[in-house]
Amino acid sequence: MNAAQTIYLKDYTVPAYLVDQLALDIAIHTGFARVTARLSMRRNPAATASALWLDGEDLQLEALSIDGRALSPADYVLSDAGLSITTLPEAFVLESVVRIEPDKNTQLSGLYRSKDGYFTQCEAQGFRRITFYPDRPDVMAKFSCTLHADKAAFPVLLANGNPVAQGDEANGFHWAKWEDPFAKPAYLFACVAAKLDVVEDYYTTTSGRRVRCAVYVEPGKLDQCDHALAALKKSMKWDEDVFGLEMDLEHYMIVAVGDFNMGAMENKGLNIFNTKYVLARPDTATDTDYQNIDRVVAHEYFHNWTGNRVTCRDWFQLSLKEGLTVFRDQNFGMDVHSAGVTRIQEVRTLRAAQFPEDAGPMAHPIRPASYAEINNFYTATVYEKGAEVIRMIHTLIGKAAFRQGMDLYFARHDGQAVTCEDFVAAMQDASGLDLTQFQRWYNQAGTPRLVVKSAFDAAAKRYTLTVTQHYPATPYEERMAADGLPQARGPYHLPLVIGLLDAAGKELPLRLSGETSAAGTQRVLTLREDTQTFVFEDIASEPVPSLLRGFSAPVVLDYDYSDAALTHLMAHDSDAVNRWEAGQRLATGILLKGVEHKAQGEWIPAPYVDAIRALLASAFAPAGDPALVAEALLLPSETYLAEQMAVVDPDAIHAARLALRQHLARALRSEFESAYAQLAIDAPYSPDGAQSGKRALRNACLGYLAELGDEAANALVLSHYEQAANMTDTMAALSAIANLDIPARHTVLDSFYSKWKHEALVVDKWLQVQSTSRLATTTADVRALMAHEAFDIRNPNKVYALVRAFCAANPKHFHAADGSGYKLAADVIVELDAMNPQVASRIARTFDRWKKFDAARQALARVQLERIRAHVGLSSDVSEVVSKALD
Ligand code: ARG
Ligand code: ZN
Repeated sequence: MNAAQTIYLKDYTVPAYLVDQLALDIAIHTGFARVTARLSMRRNPAATASALWLDGEDLQLEALSIDGRALSPADYVLSDAGLSITTLPEAFVLESVVRIEPDKNTQLSGLYRSKDGYFTQCEAQGFRRITFYPDRPDVMAKFSCTLHADKAAFPVLLANGNPVAQGDEANGFHWAKWEDPFAKPAYLFACVAAKLDVVEDYYTTTSGRRVRCAVYVEPGKLDQCDHALAALKKSMKWDEDVFGLEMDLEHYMIVAVGDFNMGAMENKGLNIFNTKYVLARPDTATDTDYQNIDRVVAHEYFHNWTGNRVTCRDWFQLSLKEGLTVFRDQNFGMDVHSAGVTRIQEVRTLRAAQFPEDAGPMAHPIRPASYAEINNFYTATVYEKGAEVIRMIHTLIGKAAFRQGMDLYFARHDGQAVTCEDFVAAMQDASGLDLTQFQRWYNQAGTPRLVVKSAFDAAAKRYTLTVTQHYPATPYEERMAADGLPQARGPYHLPLVIGLLDAAGKELPLRLSGETSAAGTQRVLTLREDTQTFVFEDIASEPVPSLLRGFSAPVVLDYDYSDAALTHLMAHDSDAVNRWEAGQRLATGILLKGVEHKAQGEWIPAPYVDAIRALLASAFAPAGDPALVAEALLLPSETYLAEQMAVVDPDAIHAARLALRQHLARALRSEFESAYAQLAIDAPYSPDGAQSGKRALRNACLGYLAELGDEAANALVLSHYEQAANMTDTMAALSAIANLDIPARHTVLDSFYSKWKHEALVVDKWLQVQSTSRLATTTADVRALMAHEAFDIRNPNKVYALVRAFCAANPKHFHAADGSGYKLAADVIVELDAMNPQVASRIARTFDRWKKFDAARQALARVQLERIRAHVGLSSDVSEVVSKALD
């Protein structure tokens, strides 16, 4: 761990040496592992530098040789970060032997121990913790890997590619050798030595390749693998159908591990997954868990082409593979689940996580030009905004040209490590659309604001929309300028998808000035300038504009809608996202008024209640969609509301939101009760869209009824809990109960724990309902739970469920006026930093928006941030986050 040092994109140079082949040999002994690496190397003809640099971290060097000749310490320079050698032939074989201690690797980067054996995580820079190597994505080599381990303790030995040989050894050891036929960067290496169960299936590709699909899990969990395995086969089919991309290996393995920093990892042919995105059984996993498994399995599978076959030149290009792959898994989700619901959930996530990031101290473009710690850049911006940027290209050039652009991208770059410009160039060349200006999306930070004004000329039957872009500089641009790297800024090139509705809710035919006839009822308006005007002809009466349909660009849309116009859109817009959005805007307006007046008096307008009544009824109409109605019933989150305020008042936001929920519950009690009764499901559990949609709406109704707090309501919640036949229903009741100050709360939480204490992922849910409770005792409860046997600070899932959820999803308590929430977070960050800086840094990010709060809270947060920053030996991960926050 070293102090934060800034790395710049402008400093990129090609590697001095290339690796053609790497033969790895990893022997796992008690307490240590010995790694022998043979690198077949040659000078890079494109390089000017001549010294060889090999990254290496926490490695004990035992031997080093070139072409079989042992090197002495005088022949190289060894530091904490790696090793350099200056005098070398044009081509040579370098062999090193190192000793590592995977049992002590609490960072979970490199080779580490988890309950059932040994696992790896090499992205971004974990491979250097296994052996000396040019650990950068533009060095691609063919790998072979031989593993040795105790056969009884670790019967399963896996690595990338194909198994080529195996056998037994002395002392009860066994070995297995794997070979990966594809050249790859080191971050895609993986190996596993563990005791695991496996479930297998086969998939035959269009061109006839038979692929063995295997899911490996801890012993006893085979009954929780079916969904992930099915998702894998669905993904393989989808990528063939939609992009013509086939699986290229005979073995595709997914290994689930309980200790994992992130969601999952796309290592070639050997994905390693957090158990959270593999294991599911109706009684242990919720509908959302099932959907997340679909998406993460698809995401990692899609990386095989967008990430592995074509990879990143350097880590600044991370969004090249992540933005594109998220875009692909989003479209998969829209196809296999529900297009509207999926898109709405993405918009909600983007606004909840990415917009605040873009408005805070860590703001960065999807392709940042500098970073201190790359692990800090696996962000909502690189992933989710990155996907929005790809989606905008798709919208601007259309589906067919986008597919041609993808084909061209693979034709040009298969087997290469490339840049975001290479991707955009393929899209530009395939479509003929000039995307030069579009590239600003890769270089400018911050969320643009579109201010739209409308004017109606009844005499001329003309409707005019004027759109102005605002894109003020962020702390990112300020930092770059201070570093002498000022970033040019200008308006964005983006698609604004719109429609116009008449007073009856009908979509109007759209003819722009200068066009001879109307073309459809929805148009993609192209924005490129600071201000643009669009004139629509033949408009008989003033329409209601439906703007930014499908959330066609990652922007804040500023248009002065009346409540009546929003109610109209909510009821009639053909665009699901905008129907939902209209409801969110209405609710936001009401809630912000409630915040301002501290939620006193009857401030909730009756027409809003009527609109919600109509919304609920629409779920039962012939073409009704319960899943969409469930989304629309969910009020804007406290975090979203906070972003809309100049100075955040977390208590007033919480009070107003709760008051609105209670008001709706009282006003619509009988409607909620009858919907709840009608939506009961008799059929056996299935996570499919239709059934999960009904459940989502039924549980949304239950959630409102639970706000009533009277005896009948509490009894309903408790009986829902008792009768629940799946984890979705159980959790709907449990999260309501966790907010109720009733004696049954303890009984229920205790019995839930005793029933599930051996199911780690269910215990995470138990921790999270408590850490996100609104009850006054929550902060103390979280402290107490940190000492509970169920908690383990070394397990990322436990920390995310108990601590991160508290900080990120419980603003009322995290931002408590006495500073107790900030203190709790800082205590954990400091303790965790020494063990797992990546996870500590993720918790530290929850301080991002501290400057949006009042002076008293800012003072309390500052004390904690400064205490963290002053901590001796602080990691570069946390140091970067905290220093930028304090700047
Ligand atoms: N490439 C992985 C994925 O998105 C994520 C790996 C993140 N690793 C990290 N150390 N931040 O599928
Ligand atoms: Zn990814």
